[in-house]
Amino acid sequence: MIWIAFFLRRRREIDYRAFQQMSDNQDTLIELVQGMQEIKLQDSQAKRRWRWAEIQAKLFKVQIKSLAITQYQDGGATFISQLKDIVITFMAAKSVIDGQITLGMMLAIQYILGQLNAPLTQLVGFVRSAQDARISLERLGEIQNQSPEDAEDNDKSTLIPKGDLALNGVYFRYNQLHDWTLADINLTIPRGKVTAIVGVSGSGKTTLLKLLLGFYQPEKGNISIGSAHLERIRPSVWRRQCGVVMQDGYIFSDNIANNIAESEKGYFGNYDIGKLQHSVHVANIRDYIEQLPLGYNTIIGARGNGISQGQRQRLLIGRAVYKDPEFLFFDEATNALDANNERVIMEQLNQFFQGRTVVVVAHRLSTVRHADKIVVIDQGKIVEEGCHDSLVTKGGAYYTLVKNQLELGN
Ligand SMILES: Nc1ncnc2c1ncn2[C@@H]1O[C@H](COP(=O)(O)OP(=O)(O)OP(=O)(O)O)[C@@H](O)[C@H]1O
Ligand SMILES: [Mg+2]
Repeated sequence: MIWIAFFLRRRREIDYRAFQQMSDNQDTLIELVQGMQEIKLQDSQAKRRWRWAEIQAKLFKVQIKSLAITQYQDGGATFISQLKDIVITFMAAKSVIDGQITLGMMLAIQYILGQLNAPLTQLVGFVRSAQDARISLERLGEIQNQSPEDAEDNDKSTLIPKGDLALNGVYFRYNQLHDWTLADINLTIPRGKVTAIVGVSGSGKTTLLKLLLGFYQPEKGNISIGSAHLERIRPSVWRRQCGVVMQDGYIFSDNIANNIAESEKGYFGNYDIGKLQHSVHVANIRDYIEQLPLGYNTIIGARGNGISQGQRQRLLIGRAVYKDPEFLFFDEATNALDANNERVIMEQLNQFFQGRTVVVVAHRLSTVRHADKIVVIDQGKIVEEGCHDSLVTKGGAYYTLVKNQLELGN
């Protein structure tokens, strides 16, 4: 058993490596399937296949190592066990020759030895399985021991105070080794008003929204709603009040009604038809849905009907409207739409926005120009704030951003 225990550390190491390789293997497989279109477009099949083969080879090597360790453990254990048999037999035989025990006693000892060996081998096997179980449990524990985001911590408030959303000296970065993604953000998002966030690609707009939605915590500074800090409010309670269209919003493989009524509590297929019709009307997709043979029951998503990017965005808007929330966050929610569609939706949405706190992120002038407040972000810092007219007159960062679109308008 000491011999078996001796290998525990090495086994753990190899076990971790094997699982790492297996997850790499799964990842590449999924990537190959999901990225098929791109792989064909770039004609990179052979390259990708070689990458896959390399991973198989690595996986195979790790498995061979694991097998070798098992062999060492078993071989060593058998060797020790056989050695013990020989020593005992030798001692018994010597005792018979010396006249200390009879021949019958020696045979009895042999018999006992034979009977004992089978359970002993089983015990050794058991110890090895126990090692495997222990290593697996350790690995499970890494995930299992993380406290759930919404742990039943009763000290977190379930009330959301009325008031402005405010970021006070917020600093944030995704990686400790990197520069700040957002630095020194001081911003008030007035209650019941529309605030637009603009900025070049990669300036940190989506990141700002993710902080507001509680997906990440600021490293320095804090976010507050009225008198309360966001981190003191239960994330689930907060998000229930937020209607969100993310840039990479997800459409489930389900029918249209369920996709829009995702926020509805209870069983699937439970939705309010009136609310549903209102939300598809606001999102300007009612005509499309109602001309489908199965209407709201049409299955869309990976297993169903393909939909266009613009239809996807409109469904996501419908989903946010259906939720009827106090706070709305739109990240490039209308950028795939044609100008006509966008105009209609923006008109409907402007009505819907009445009395709600709204944050829209957009590159298009038509989406942001009527916002009550426009915030310009550049490289994670706020560089300008104000309304459309004052910012255009000022001729600063905002003007540079939308200059081309302004000229187009003229
Ligand atoms: N999950 C992540 N891990 C590490 N870095 C990230 C992550 N998401 C974004 N970043 C980086 O943070 C910066 C800000 O990204 P963000 O998505 O907020 O930009 P954005 O302003 O929304 O841009 P766009 O207009 O193109 O959507 C970028 O430099 C990006 O590379
Ligand atoms: Mg973004």
